[in-house]
Amino acid sequence: MPLSWLRVERFRCLDETELLLDPSVNLFFGPNASGKTSLLEAAFFLGRGRSFRTRRRNPLIQHGESNFLVAGRCTAAHGEISLGIRASPDSAEIHVNGRAVRSTASLVEVYPTQALDPDVHKLVEEGPARRRRFLDWGVFHVEPEFLSGWHRYHLALRNRNAALNRGLGRSAVAAWDQEVGSSGERLAEQRGRYLERLAGPLSEIGRSPLGAEITLKHLRGWSDGVLLVEQLGRAIAADERNRATTIGPHRADLVIYLGDREAKGIVSRGQQKLLAAGLLLAQLRVQQEGWAGPGALMLDDPAAELDERSLEKLMGIIGMIRTQLWVSSLTGEVPGLPGSGKRFHVERGVIREVR
Ligand SMILES: Nc1ncnc2c1ncn2[C@@H]1O[C@H](COP(=O)(O)OP(=O)(O)OP(=O)(O)O)[C@@H](O)[C@H]1O
Ligand SMILES: [Mg+2]
Repeated sequence: MPLSWLRVERFRCLDETELLLDPSVNLFFGPNASGKTSLLEAAFFLGRGRSFRTRRRNPLIQHGESNFLVAGRCTAAHGEISLGIRASPDSAEIHVNGRAVRSTASLVEVYPTQALDPDVHKLVEEGPARRRRFLDWGVFHVEPEFLSGWHRYHLALRNRNAALNRGLGRSAVAAWDQEVGSSGERLAEQRGRYLERLAGPLSEIGRSPLGAEITLKHLRGWSDGVLLVEQLGRAIAADERNRATTIGPHRADLVIYLGDREAKGIVSRGQQKLLAAGLLLAQLRVQQEGWAGPGALMLDDPAAELDERSLEKLMGIIGMIRTQLWVSSLTGEVPGLPGSGKRFHVERGVIREVR
């Protein structure tokens, strides 16, 4: 659900800020260091319980303060839902409709957020960890039991790795093979099923704005046509040398193709950004078919590193998704951005609507 009202206190350079938002497009423009990214970051935090810039909470708390608050209201057909988080370096209190909840999953259900920040290209160019996170975030939204299975696999994997690391001997290691094998197979199956659902939206996004098919190949982390439990048995010598489990879905990766070529190492920085945006937006599409309806998309400085034509392509991809847009920009004009919606000027942490 989109956010209709947002309140931020003591978050980075934003002291006390209150905004009424447009359900479809909100543009925040102003000079460098005025607080545009901070505002998008605060609104994203409300949906995820974390920032898109850092994994730590400390940098988010305004200098000299001990906590920050982000609160908002979502308007749904059946009424309003209020959300709030008060966070200090080592604790976070989350409220949904005035009631304390323990997990950020309750936020995600009401107000799913996604961010396209200037680092988005790393999804294509960097190592597999980002791509696994991307994949798992997607599966999590369409397979309700995925999270518990994910924890089950990683717990078994930790135990197997501990046995390897402490040199407890082959039978102590092998004692975990069944559990790692069966939960790992399940995880890879769920990922594979999700990738099948993602393929349609991806090729549509690829064909029209990017002009070439985007396809993904799932490297599940062990050999094709072999049961994980069997390969674990055969990998024992290598695992002992490495003191860690060297195969399994924790080693999975996605190979991204643009047309018939592997994208990594070939496409330009601007193309990486378009490609990564295509992946994230296809994910948002699939997410909207699942339990999480339209939420919000943070577009932090979309013009960075893109020429005007590429920026228009990016906005073309974004136009294919039903979502509330939060856009930051140095200028009040963003090529390809719908003219409707609200515009806010940001200067030294003060945000004012421009009519
Ligand atoms: N914890 C904090 N407390 C106070 N100020 C902070 C904190 N963290 C960052 N800032 C400051 O907030 C200001 C705004 O940063 P922000 O990244 O939101 O700017 P921006 O408008 O997105 O700029 P740019 O156009 O360069 O991307 C910066 O001057 C930054 O140093
Ligand atoms: Mg910024």
